[in-house]
Amino acid sequence: MNDSQAIFELKKVTHYFDNFPALTEINLKIYPGEKVALIGSSGAGKSTLLRLLNGIERPTEGEVWALGRNLSNLSAKRLRQIQRQIGTIYQQFHLVDNLRVIHNVNAGHLGHWSFAKAAISLIFPLEVETAAKALTKVGIPEKLYVRTDRLSGGQQQRVAIARVLVQNPVVILADEPISSLDPERSREIMDLLKEMCETEGKTLVISLHSIEFARSHCDRLIGLRQGKIVFDAPTDVVFESAIADLYR
Ligand SMILES: Nc1ncnc2c1ncn2[C@@H]1O[C@H](COP(=O)(O)OP(=O)(O)O)[C@@H](O)[C@H]1O
Ligand SMILES: [Mg+2]
Repeated sequence: MNDSQAIFELKKVTHYFDNFPALTEINLKIYPGEKVALIGSSGAGKSTLLRLLNGIERPTEGEVWALGRNLSNLSAKRLRQIQRQIGTIYQQFHLVDNLRVIHNVNAGHLGHWSFAKAAISLIFPLEVETAAKALTKVGIPEKLYVRTDRLSGGQQQRVAIARVLVQNPVVILADEPISSLDPERSREIMDLLKEMCETEGKTLVISLHSIEFARSHCDRLIGLRQGKIVFDAPTDVVFESAIADLYR
């Protein structure tokens, strides 16, 4: 049986790339409203873990449950239904550069819109109000019709967050969302993500290079090293020595 309260549950998950174990025997539960930081050196397995959570990768061994479903047992259609409830934000934003901001924000509807509606919207933008509201929430309402590649990195990450707001998922996964931003912009984006999750009651799982932001913005820290969980605890009980060990 799975834990029906959990948003995510991993049971003895091992994942190989060729013969290389990127993750080994991971057991994990994440509950609604948690803000969980994944930390660890480059290559520790953070991105792989996030890709297992949103069903992009299927585990070599073990089970990944998301929103009460075992992702390995789902039809493609069912999997997409679950994936609609999981929003993902990336370091490199994953926006279409030469489109206006509104189209990138509206891409948050793609799991729900028909192909025809999506195609029409590229010519006559639909749901302008929804997009405008999302952009207001992320602090750049005036950028609705600006070409995306005219925006700064921080603004582009705000567009990616607005897209997730429009998708309105239950849980947000973020893979090093601030790694290409300067410290000031990083803080703004972290504040925005935290506030958004708190006010909208969303769960957050975020991989971070910055221990400082993991500590200040997340309530649980999972330390990964060479594909294994080294610690998994509430932020305030993780000692600096444990963190130093993690990067040793
Ligand atoms: N698509 C892939 N093919 C082969 N090896 C991969 C692939 N993705 C990740 N890896 C390997 O798996 C390990 C974990 O990678 P990753 O999850 O990206 O770590 P992190 O995000 O913590 O830097 C690394 O050794 C990496 O080289
Ligand atoms: Mg990574």
